[in-house]
Amino acid sequence: MTAVEVPAVRRLADWSAPSLRELADEYGTPLYVQDLDRVRENYDRLADAFPDARVHYAVKANAGQRVLETLREAGAGAECASAGEVSRALEAGFEPSAIHYTAVNPPARDLEYVLDAAPAATVVAGATDTVDRLADRGFDGRLAVRVHPRVGAGHSEDVATGADAKFGIPRDRAAAALRDAAARGFDVVGIHAHAGSGMLTAADVAAHREVVERLAAVAREAPVDLEFVDVGGGFGVPYRPAEAPLDLGALADATRDALAGVDADLVVEPGRFLVADAGVLLTAVNTVKRTAGPTLAGVDAGMTTLLRPALYDAHHEVRSLARDAGDRPQRDVTVVGPICESTDVLAADRRLPRPERGDVLAVGNAGAYGIEMASQYNSRPRPAVVALADGGDELARERESLADLAAHEHGGPADQ
Ligand code: LLP
Repeated sequence: MTAVEVPAVRRLADWSAPSLRELADEYGTPLYVQDLDRVRENYDRLADAFPDARVHYAVKANAGQRVLETLREAGAGAECASAGEVSRALEAGFEPSAIHYTAVNPPARDLEYVLDAAPAATVVAGATDTVDRLADRGFDGRLAVRVHPRVGAGHSEDVATGADAKFGIPRDRAAAALRDAAARGFDVVGIHAHAGSGMLTAADVAAHREVVERLAAVAREAPVDLEFVDVGGGFGVPYRPAEAPLDLGALADATRDALAGVDADLVVEPGRFLVADAGVLLTAVNTVKRTAGPTLAGVDAGMTTLLRPALYDAHHEVRSLARDAGDRPQRDVTVVGPICESTDVLAADRRLPRPERGDVLAVGNAGAYGIEMASQYNSRPRPAVVALADGGDELARERESLADLAAHEHGGPADQ
């Protein structure tokens, strides 16, 4: 095995300030910047740590076409959570057979779309009800069973999926579900579990190992030969400068150890790990306010642009790209957006160069669950996305316009 010569983490400080300033000038702000070369590097790091695994990229982290194409070309399959994600994966050229559709309480419309557009996909059912609904629609294709391991991990309890009964069939009923599905004529190919999102520490690796051990126990008692065991994603990245990167080797070893004696392909389905540190969000300061506490830097990106801080209290690094940032005095700064909500805070109480109107700030690790979770709340158009590849840049997604806000309404000006 040859070690891949790429850094284990790309920090916000590693991005070139002049290049980012140029992009902000050229495309305006707020702007997501996604470096496809780094996405590719992250894929190579993962493939190096898991040389025998099939990698299915979790599309929900970033469904941009350029991102999907990059990962498809690198050799990944796709893990899709909705009809929309399946549709975007197909548009990006994924073969239906390379798609896993993880059906969580799937709306009928989603099932019908997926069975019609990608009948060769593998459907991962998280409830016996879902298996019934697939049978009702005449589906007898590739089926996997999602197991509820009752152990979770991740950056917050909100994303410790493995501990949440919403996801998966209780493990003591999984073997029966497999037997039943095989008896009904499905092509039963695998089992699946996902510990949670954002695993970073040794304790997270231990929790992941526990999940895989429980999955391995199901595999050993499975009444059919399994083609694969899918251990989910959730591989974390450091969001704070002091955090060490995930020990990918330890995670891979724990996974392999837990699967000892199980004769099936290993599948992993990371999202964040592949795209998070390949993306930054650029935002401009429009208002500076002194308060009794920290200086408030009002910017043009908010919780509608990057929801994670408001939703999970997630930390994203912020860096001033001002040319003279190094010469300015440091201040306690809170970065707030333009949304009429008190939770519209991108970063609280940071030591930053004194902000000035017109400065561009960069927000780190914005490549995962950034543009995907953006909304139009407060009638705010979603931002543009620019893709970097081979030293060049290209607009990957247009900034939405005010007209886009009413594009689907009836009876208004857009309808005439
Ligand atoms: N597989 C399954 C079945 C999942 O539910 C998820 C994430 C993944 C894979 C990919 O997880 P990743 O490798 O990206 O951690 N919006 C949250 C994350 C929610 C993840 C939900 N499921 C955030 O911004 O942190």
